[in-house]
Amino acid sequence: MSYSNESIAELVRPDSVHKSVYTDPEIFQLEMDRIYGHAWIYAGHESQVPKVGDYHTTRIGDQDVIMVRGTDGKVHVLYNRCPHKGAMVVARGDGNAGKFFRCPYHAWTFKLDGSHLAAPIRRGFEGTSFDPSSPEFSMRALARVESYRGFVFASQAAQGPSLTDFLGGVRSSIDNLCDRSPEGEVEVAGGVFKVMQPSNWKVFYENLHDTMHANVTHESSYTSARKQAESFDKMPLELHIMDGNGEPYEFWEKLSLMAFDYGHGYMEGIFNPGAIETDPVTRSHFETLVEAYGRERALAIMGENRHNTIIYGSGSPHTVFQQFRVIRPIAVDRTLVEIQTFRLKGAPEAVFKRGLMYANLINSPSSNVMPDDIELYGRCQQGNMTRGGDWVSQHRYAGTDKPIEGGMTSINGTSELPMRNQFNAWKQYMLGQV
Ligand SMILES: [Fe+2]
Repeated sequence: MSYSNESIAELVRPDSVHKSVYTDPEIFQLEMDRIYGHAWIYAGHESQVPKVGDYHTTRIGDQDVIMVRGTDGKVHVLYNRCPHKGAMVVARGDGNAGKFFRCPYHAWTFKLDGSHLAAPIRRGFEGTSFDPSSPEFSMRALARVESYRGFVFASQAAQGPSLTDFLGGVRSSIDNLCDRSPEGEVEVAGGVFKVMQPSNWKVFYENLHDTMHANVTHESSYTSARKQAESFDKMPLELHIMDGNGEPYEFWEKLSLMAFDYGHGYMEGIFNPGAIETDPVTRSHFETLVEAYGRERALAIMGENRHNTIIYGSGSPHTVFQQFRVIRPIAVDRTLVEIQTFRLKGAPEAVFKRGLMYANLINSPSSNVMPDDIELYGRCQQGNMTRGGDWVSQHRYAGTDKPIEGGMTSINGTSELPMRNQFNAWKQYMLGQV
């Protein structure tokens, strides 16, 4: 079928969505145009391209792009396409282009901002309309590129909100992540895990603040952790983190869920990696912050305990354990998740090691926890392909959400507000209202 705006609007109700939003390839293609063709999407971190010519390839929606450090010191984001025959100019991956890009097909060259440098044997173009100064013969840049504290976002739309306005209520999560460094800066370090999920990209966003699943889906990992903990006097942090998923419903009910415009949000509370008074790693980290910012500010920075911030369309930064799970839609039923870990510049190495431990333990392909989720994401995809029903429920605490500046907050931590908020934004994007 071809979707009219009316038929798209009918897919999202205030308390449920039609399953075709997860399963219809035509919807997926519309999302690539109307969401990923407009929103600010995270391209990567500036620290991934520190030197002139350094590049990192990635995907903005269904578009192959290159994030590159130009000779002007600025970060550019270009479509990975040579204007001659259309070949991808660089293979997917990271590298250094030197002073210019050179297409491996016919050696057309381009400056690091994508502008045309040269095509071999220029005389062959004499008398044709070939014009090296025309954008038609350059690598095209994405319409807008902005960086917020080192996090580079690109938008394929020339018009729209500024990056800071777009980030709105979750900008403070990026601030907190960076402020945890005594130098106020982070850098990608420790490699990147990649996990391919057999499910639609939206399912992962919904799971990030889905508190009702934790003690059901993760039963096998938290019961194992609890059993293992019996052999220790004090439960190690590794087991404590897994154990947390086994908290009873009453625990999750007390959490706060914040939901902002454009589908963003964050969750407050949950796992503190350790108290300043008792945990030596947290203590030494705190001391570096006191030296840099003073005691009061250091307490405020460490006291902001957010879990799984959502930047809708880009992924999920985690402030306390310094990582960014970047979510890349590949197909209607395939999603690539890249887990970037960050070093807090100037903070003790043990803080970085703790972040790596969390990434290994919770998010990596060999994690004890993530496979639980991936199994369920796949089941949602498969179940929604059956004729067993058409609607997906988001009824929990529907109609009770409270407005806050730039968004809504839940009255109960088990609310399905985050999912409703994401689909509210989804609908606005899909109807061209943002
Ligand atoms: Fe989970």
